[in-house]
Amino acid sequence: MDSTLAAQVADLRRNLAGHSALEIIRAVAGHFPGRVSFSTSFGLEDQALSHLIFANELPVRVFTLDTGRNFQETYSTWNKTLLRYEQPIEVFAPQAASLETLVTAKGPNSFYESIANRKECCHIRKVEPLARALAGQQIWLTGIRAEQSANRQHMHPVEWDAGHGLIKVHPLFEWTWDDTLSFTQQHGVPVNPLHQQGFVSIGCAPCTRAIRPGEDFRAGRWWWENADAKECGLHDTTEHQGLDPVVEAIN
Ligand code: ADX
Ligand code: SF4
Repeated sequence: MDSTLAAQVADLRRNLAGHSALEIIRAVAGHFPGRVSFSTSFGLEDQALSHLIFANELPVRVFTLDTGRNFQETYSTWNKTLLRYEQPIEVFAPQAASLETLVTAKGPNSFYESIANRKECCHIRKVEPLARALAGQQIWLTGIRAEQSANRQHMHPVEWDAGHGLIKVHPLFEWTWDDTLSFTQQHGVPVNPLHQQGFVSIGCAPCTRAIRPGEDFRAGRWWWENADAKECGLHDTTEHQGLDPVVEAIN
């Protein structure tokens, strides 16, 4: 582990506390030049962050993990974002050989059969490409908000990610859904049309459904699983929680 970098978490927590999302991104981009990356899944939060980065020309690399199973609406949001900002969004795709082996052995929808199968698919389509995307980076910006789930309320806007050996920063951590929606409306940011149909947290098409009024924001993700298991492995290696044994086994 990079102990010098890990030691900066406490200072960053102190220095960034109470600052706006824009100030937070600007500060880390200035402090870790060329080593700051933002991962976008084109959800509402990520669109707000892309707007802040692109409209203010902040030196942050933006990338997405294309699982190959996204909604068509997500792909059109991605395209609209490219047209609107004319800024690059790097793509990381699953390793073809791993995907071929998985789908040959278990078929295209193995994720419905067990949690282990679901995590195996997430590992190939998201977790492994994420590790490649984050190699050599020092700061990973995400669109995580505390309000999204009970689990996420225990997170912190600045965290040490031991698995990737970098600092994770969630600039919108304190924002509510309504804050995020108003921000995108106010700035005319392109957003995923599925949000108007009750989809809040949007992942892959076969693993996401709309939520009903009063349901948890993440209730539509892997809805057939027990709520405790519902992280895909992207966010399992930060210091607020231990490693999930299933993810550990397939990592
Ligand atoms: S997940 O772990 O359940 O998939 P979620 O959809 O809540 O995560 O998104 C949280 C943050 O993880 C997003 O704001 C984004 O930074 C990152 N993320 C999730 N999915 C992707 C993706 N496909 N590509 C890039 N980043 C992603
Ligand atoms: Fe596979 Fe579903 Fe995970 Fe997407 S969300 S990578 S389709 S299991």
